Amino acid sequence: MFYRIAKVTRGDYKSFCFSACSFRNVSSVLNLYQKFHDGKKLGLSKNLILRLAGEKLCLVVTNKQTQEIVGYSLYYFNARDRKEGTVHEGDTYLLPEYRGQGIGTAQRRHALYHFARCPFLKGVSSRVSLNNHASLKSNENLGFKPIERYFDRSMNEERVYMVCDLAPYRTQIRDGQRNKKDLEVRDYP
Ligand SMILES: CC(C)(COP(=O)(O)OP(=O)(O)OC[C@H]1O[C@@H](n2cnc3c(N)ncnc32)[C@H](O)[C@@H]1OP(=O)(O)O)[C@@H](O)C(=O)NCCC(=O)NCCS
Repeated sequence: MFYRIAKVTRGDYKSFCFSACSFRNVSSVLNLYQKFHDGKKLGLSKNLILRLAGEKLCLVVTNKQTQEIVGYSLYYFNARDRKEGTVHEGDTYLLPEYRGQGIGTAQRRHALYHFARCPFLKGVSSRVSLNNHASLKSNENLGFKPIERYFDRSMNEERVYMVCDLAPYRTQIRDGQRNKKDLEVRDYP
């Protein structure tokens, strides 16, 4: 099996573009991470992943009108992912003023097509709080299925571990098919 992950390709959705997180974008992602996590800084191991493999494991969302980076999705491999052949969606974040317009779902879909191009990956895993309706709905719309529900003591929240099977995305890439929603995002397949 070939364990290579390609660089995230560019995709467009409305007036936003998704692209690989290059080294010059790292500081923007770190700033957004701090906003998302109430001032907490990204830990050393994830920081290294971002710097060394950001182009393969992180995508940034750019507002094409202002050239501002308004969101990101960062992926990495936990022990469970290595065992189960998945990659973990560690964070997906959009600045509040850009939410609820379909961008978050489109950016996650872009990442699913990206990872569907890696033959060694079966799926993408994600942890979502049950009270995070936008994130939960977005994941469900993309094909994520709940694997287990649990209570996270550190967050004091009910959460769900979800996995999205990459096979349907792979089939679409192979057959050159696109569903209606994908038509808005260019570079697939
Ligand atoms: C989670 C997040 C990435 C979703 O992106 P988004 O662009 O806001 O979501 P979308 O516009 O694509 O909407 C996804 C679905 O959720 C629904 N939705 C959006 N906002 C909602 C809200 N506030 N409450 C309930 N449902 C909502 C939408 O209607 C849509 O479902 P539908 O297509 O079936 O109608 C974004 O809201 C965000 O960055 N949130 C803060 C960070 C976060 O929670 N990250 C995820 C951690 S697991």
